[in-house]
Amino acid sequence: MIRIAPSLLSADFTRIAEAVRTVETAGADLIHVDVMDGHFVPNLTFGPALVAALKKTTSLPLDVHLMVDNPREIMPLFLEAGADWISIHVEATPHLHRDIAFIRTAGRKAGVALNPATPLAALEAILPDLDFVLLMCVNPGRGSQAFIEASHDRIRGLRRRIKDRGLSTLIEIDGGVNLANFEGLCVDGAQVFVAGNAVFGHPDPSEAVRLMRQIAARTEGR
Ligand code: DX5
Ligand code: ZN
Repeated sequence: MIRIAPSLLSADFTRIAEAVRTVETAGADLIHVDVMDGHFVPNLTFGPALVAALKKTTSLPLDVHLMVDNPREIMPLFLEAGADWISIHVEATPHLHRDIAFIRTAGRKAGVALNPATPLAALEAILPDLDFVLLMCVNPGRGSQAFIEASHDRIRGLRRRIKDRGLSTLIEIDGGVNLANFEGLCVDGAQVFVAGNAVFGHPDPSEAVRLMRQIAARTEGR
């Protein structure tokens, strides 16, 4: 099953509740919240207070992508705020196993995010402990960047590794997803699609979500 996770990074920040309502009504599965700390990436975005506020406006799971150094320090606040899925970067913590266990002990879905140049081998030991892997298809830090084409091979490679090990880890992709590359990415084996600009930069965001749903249904029916 393909899941669509619109990223609020590209929404109109003065009308965030409306943006969430629009994509929820259109059939989105998750709301992707990009947290940046100004250290791990050179940008600052949302904190736990926004997650807590979002929690009151939607019943969709909140998919919180932590682009922060030492995620263990700030994670309790996001758990308390109601984050349902949390991803942390393999490049941002020396204690990946401990930090993932912390998320799962809290009963939330735990994911590891990989920057575009980080080898898939970095997942080897941790893969069985993950609910999902978030593969960055752009360099993290901002929206509306061009999809890095080498990501296709990475998605297929990860798909193979998950299958070979008999796991059911989901593959989430983030960055540069659009209506033109969506179908190919479904075929590669991506299952959770983060989309910022492709949804909120579209003249009609609900239409963008509906079109993604249609493409997904087509590839799922194959
Ligand atoms: C980038 C963020 C993404 C971003 C994707 O650092 O992690 O979630 O919102 O934006 P688009 O879909 O516009 O590339
Ligand atoms: Zn993200």
